[in-house]
Amino acid sequence: PANGLARTPPMGWNSWNHFAGRITAADVRDMADAMVATGMRDAGYVYVNIDDTWEGERDASGAIRPNDKFGDMSALAAYVHARGLKLGIYSSPGGKTCAGFAGSHGHEDQDARTFAAWGVDFLKYDYCGATLLYPVTRGNQEALFRRMGHALQKTGRPIVYSLSQSGDFDIWTWGPQTGANMWRTTPDISDNWESMSKRGFRQLDLTAWSGPGHWNDPDMLEIGNGGMTADEYRTQMSLWSILPAPLLAGNDLRTMNTVTKEILLNREVIAVDQDPAGTPARRLETRGEVEVLVRDMSDGSIVVGFFNRGDQTAKVGLDWRRLGDRFGHGVAARDLWRHTAVTPGSAFTGTVPRHGVVLLRVVPAPIGTN
Ligand code: GLA
Repeated sequence: PANGLARTPPMGWNSWNHFAGRITAADVRDMADAMVATGMRDAGYVYVNIDDTWEGERDASGAIRPNDKFGDMSALAAYVHARGLKLGIYSSPGGKTCAGFAGSHGHEDQDARTFAAWGVDFLKYDYCGATLLYPVTRGNQEALFRRMGHALQKTGRPIVYSLSQSGDFDIWTWGPQTGANMWRTTPDISDNWESMSKRGFRQLDLTAWSGPGHWNDPDMLEIGNGGMTADEYRTQMSLWSILPAPLLAGNDLRTMNTVTKEILLNREVIAVDQDPAGTPARRLETRGEVEVLVRDMSDGSIVVGFFNRGDQTAKVGLDWRRLGDRFGHGVAARDLWRHTAVTPGSAFTGTVPRHGVVLLRVVPAPIGTN
């Protein structure tokens, strides 16, 4: 879209998965501090996004005010900006939001100007809530999303525009026309294997519509929220990165354990997500319960993910020549979770735990080395 933003998938944090309606300005400040202290910011997570339930009443001029839990939004934005981070906020084309707070209906231009004046850098705009005013049709959705897209553009402030609905009406085919930088392709994620894996693997059929500036969004990360195993969380991080998709953490950043930090802060995996070319992953093969996904990186390497969707440990293997002729003379490969070199040879063999992943970055061996 015209705003030129989100050339790589947006990275940051969003309040909904952990806090839902309990989020306060104090929590947002804590998260901004934690993003700096834990190294999240330096690893690329820069958006601090307030989801639904910040909204208060409109004043006499119709301007939206935050509720008592938030108070002064300009001050909050300044706090976030002072730490080298960006602030995100949430609204809806409805009279009410999904959680029943004030929406932007009839105030789109005014709200866009208010958000810009506060210093907002990201807007999640959620159709849910608008369903009370308008039937859920593609025409209504497209028109209402476009209206806010325009309003944001007119402010002149760079604001990433993120659409939320449930993947209705093949939104990936018309999302870009609304000025959006990303759009949800599924109903809400929850913190369990079924929900996460179903949403993640579903994206493989939609990759043609996702790329620099305009991303499919399989919803936020659940890593660190406690409902999945470490292997399952490594799968979410790996799958979202190889697709690639936005990486919006959804956990409490103040209380991350070592494993959660290792997953969210894995720079080798983040580098996959943030590859500047944004080339989508493709399925090389499905063998039993194992999906073998590959993705071309802009430096000529190939990322290979062996994803085990089954309940038992799986043996996996791959003849490097399957990656192309360039790989026929041997390879150098790195295991992006173990952070080790993979012993070369003509093929890879390994094991993948249930619901787990092995993620490799592979380059052809230099000519003459074998
Ligand atoms: C919808 C969205 C969620 C969240 C809630 C907030 O369910 O899909 O991501 O924003 O609304 O009310």
